[in-house]
Amino acid sequence: RLPEPFTSPLPVPPVLRPVRTDATTDYYEITQRPGRAGILPGYSTEVWGYDGRFPGPTIESRSGRQVVVRHRNELPVPTVTHLHGGVTPSRYDGYPTDVVLPVGGRSAGSAGAIAHGSFDYAYPLGQPAATLWYHDHRMDFTGPQVYRGLAGFHLVHDAVEEALPLPRRERDVPLMICDRAFAADGSFHYPSIDSSLTGEPGVTSDFMKGVLGDVILVNGAPWPVLEVAAVRYRFRLLNASNARRYQLALDPPPPSGTAFVQVGSDVGLLGRPIDHEAIDIAPAERFDVVVDFGSYPVGTQVTLVNRYGTGSTGHVMRFHVVRKARDDSTVPPRLADLEQPSPPSTITRRMKFSRSGSHYETWTINGQAFDPNRIDAQVSLGATERWLITTNADHPVHIHLGHFQVLSRNGGKPGPYDAGWKDTVDMRPEDEVEIVVRFNGYRGRYVFHCHNLEHEDMAMMANIEVT
Ligand code: C2O
Ligand code: CU
Repeated sequence: RLPEPFTSPLPVPPVLRPVRTDATTDYYEITQRPGRAGILPGYSTEVWGYDGRFPGPTIESRSGRQVVVRHRNELPVPTVTHLHGGVTPSRYDGYPTDVVLPVGGRSAGSAGAIAHGSFDYAYPLGQPAATLWYHDHRMDFTGPQVYRGLAGFHLVHDAVEEALPLPRRERDVPLMICDRAFAADGSFHYPSIDSSLTGEPGVTSDFMKGVLGDVILVNGAPWPVLEVAAVRYRFRLLNASNARRYQLALDPPPPSGTAFVQVGSDVGLLGRPIDHEAIDIAPAERFDVVVDFGSYPVGTQVTLVNRYGTGSTGHVMRFHVVRKARDDSTVPPRLADLEQPSPPSTITRRMKFSRSGSHYETWTINGQAFDPNRIDAQVSLGATERWLITTNADHPVHIHLGHFQVLSRNGGKPGPYDAGWKDTVDMRPEDEVEIVVRFNGYRGRYVFHCHNLEHEDMAMMANIEVT
């Protein structure tokens, strides 16, 4: 019953046009509403989407130009939108209880700031070129609400990036990878898909590892295919899955050897490109990579595989090399000036991500479940801190506002996928990762949490207060 892989063309989400612009700001409007998507042949799937689409429209911004997005909520539930990787004032950051109620909806006792029907999120975007994304962040319900489709790309461009001879336009393609399960009628099958309607928190201890699906979608299509010329392409890989980790590789590998030349990490360009034969990508991470199809003969079918998957989850999409073309792009040996923050000499915080409770039934940080009324880390604006993060299971650890660099992993050098400025770090069971994190930008309350969305909904989240 699963769809035939490599038959749907890869969709590319449309780029949203501003409704107006002025000297400093681009203004956008997005309506969050139910929509129908033809994901499985012969079925239509209800999605909850930004403008009714899954993925949502892509926003493309210029570093230093403010963006205001008016989100109107025509869904049956409260929502809250977070710009992941954004350096954003607290009141626009999508704090989990700062909900936007449905148009015409009544206040439903949320502890945070309540907006009625719509809210204008203002993003200063005083940050370098990067692949950001936006998604729902409602407390207790992020898992089911993102699963239904509430996720989209937000790309930031700047002069440094534009001066680089990297592939452009139709050869610069965002790829949102996520897994979903479907019911017999073609609808998304989340274990408690209606929980967000009933107000009962979404997931239970039956899903301690998170919710996994057996269909891999890229930009909303199952195992799609993209026809490419035998030239370089830039792909912005985003793992938007609730819980699945992937190890991405190309089959066959390119005759030239290197499958992926990484040019950027979560929140910016790297200093120098890094060659990878394969890429491990955890939920919420982004890898900005260049793939050179020029060494494959025309006619080759190149499959993007997932070595951590089996059966239907072992492949992701396919590239079909259909013609030769001229290629003016290259990957230069130097990309951006990557600042190396000087870490304070002592560890300022220890963060232990683990299972707690009498039956180990809750996911906690330093033994505590999320409480919006408790500040877990008080940091000063502009501070650079050294954090030691430890885990007892797979946890992609994400910090809002603060961007970081990995200093060490398990006492040794950072891992191959730790390079550059990041907002999410892939933690494996029993890992110990030391990071240097900088809290620049704004005062106020922010969260950090596990980005396995079921773990997040099970309260593996804590508060930072920047003062
Ligand atoms: Cu991608 Cu706190 O979120
Ligand atoms: Cu986790």
